[in-house]
Amino acid sequence: MTAARTEQGPDTRARGEGESDVVLLLKDLVVEFPVGGGQMVHAVSGIDLDVRRGETLGLVGESGCGKSTTGRAIMQLPRPTSGSVVFDGGDLTTLSPRELRELRPKLQMIFQDPISSLNPRRRIPDIVGDPLVVWGRGDERARVVPEVLEAVGLDPQQVADRRPHQFSGGQCQRVSIARALVLEPEVLICDEPVSALDVSVQAQILNLLEDMKRRYGLTLVFIAHDLGVVRNISDRVAVMYLGRICELGETTALFDDPVHPYTRLLVSSIPSMETITGADIEEADRGRGEMPSPINPPSGCRFRTRCPAATERCSAEVPEMREVKPGRFAACHHPILEPILEQEGA
Ligand SMILES: Nc1ncnc2c1ncn2[C@@H]1O[C@H](COP(=O)(O)OP(=O)(O)OP(=O)(O)O)[C@@H](O)[C@H]1O
Ligand code: SF4
Ligand SMILES: [Mg+2]
Repeated sequence: MTAARTEQGPDTRARGEGESDVVLLLKDLVVEFPVGGGQMVHAVSGIDLDVRRGETLGLVGESGCGKSTTGRAIMQLPRPTSGSVVFDGGDLTTLSPRELRELRPKLQMIFQDPISSLNPRRRIPDIVGDPLVVWGRGDERARVVPEVLEAVGLDPQQVADRRPHQFSGGQCQRVSIARALVLEPEVLICDEPVSALDVSVQAQILNLLEDMKRRYGLTLVFIAHDLGVVRNISDRVAVMYLGRICELGETTALFDDPVHPYTRLLVSSIPSMETITGADIEEADRGRGEMPSPINPPSGCRFRTRCPAATERCSAEVPEMREVKPGRFAACHHPILEPILEQEGA
């Protein structure tokens, strides 16, 4: 690891005069999967999103709305159908496989199921050190691997001869995080990193991610369907529905006062954001009805079949993302601009 970054906390190199604060920029990103019979899954349909250096951007939405596909499209795994992913000023979608490979260490991803994403036959220090070997830095293993294992709370001596099946899910997620950090990435995409873990362990892994973010100056894209977790960890949140972003804003403001009908339904159908449980979310989901198929999404606004505020315009015209109040972006023809308490007559 680079000592300077460790000691100075968040990397502020790109915040200098004239330099961009945006580390990752998605422009009109589209991902479609052909599924036979001439049909297509419209998994991601024209996403525009900026990720600012040093922030945690939460990406939240129901199962199947396209969160993981967006994360993988950023990594070019696979390459998106169209649109661009600008990272550190260059468009990843136009890079050759060799150029992409050179950039890969700077963009890392961790996944939901830590145990199955680790090679069961390899010892922990080898799993963590392998990326260094792959990128021709094998001679750094003896120094860097113990350092990063300690950083994620694992004793290098104790794990020296262990393999993944000898660890709990939480410990395996620590190993995954160590493996992702060993190449000193700038951006870490976390796809549901705690949803497979017990609640008590979830908190430990979230704290670890926060610590690692500060220590290594990371930018995090944090994907989850659990609103409570996203609220806890994110600086800003993007809410996705059926392949599109419907609302984007600073976390507290967005949760306290959502302007898109979908976000409002999502937030207000849950009793208390502090005591939220998985059962609460499932109950809220049932109340909102089924999400339409991404093979044949509704015309106009994709949320219109479930939206209490839908009008004819909503089926005719796709709502563009626009700033509906300072710092708050929503894709809706009729955003709700009254504060949540006023509207509910409280
Ligand atoms: N390789 C694929 N081929 C066909 N369809 C796919 C493929 N990958 C994803 N999909 C579909 O794309 C849509 C978005 O999937 P995605 O996994 O991105 O959703 P998600 O928001 O991550 O859901 P979850 O919360 O369940 O992880 C879904 O309808 C899914 O079935
Ligand atoms: S555009 Fe129309 S259907 Fe879509 S969320 Fe807004 S009001 Fe509802
Ligand atoms: Mg997913």
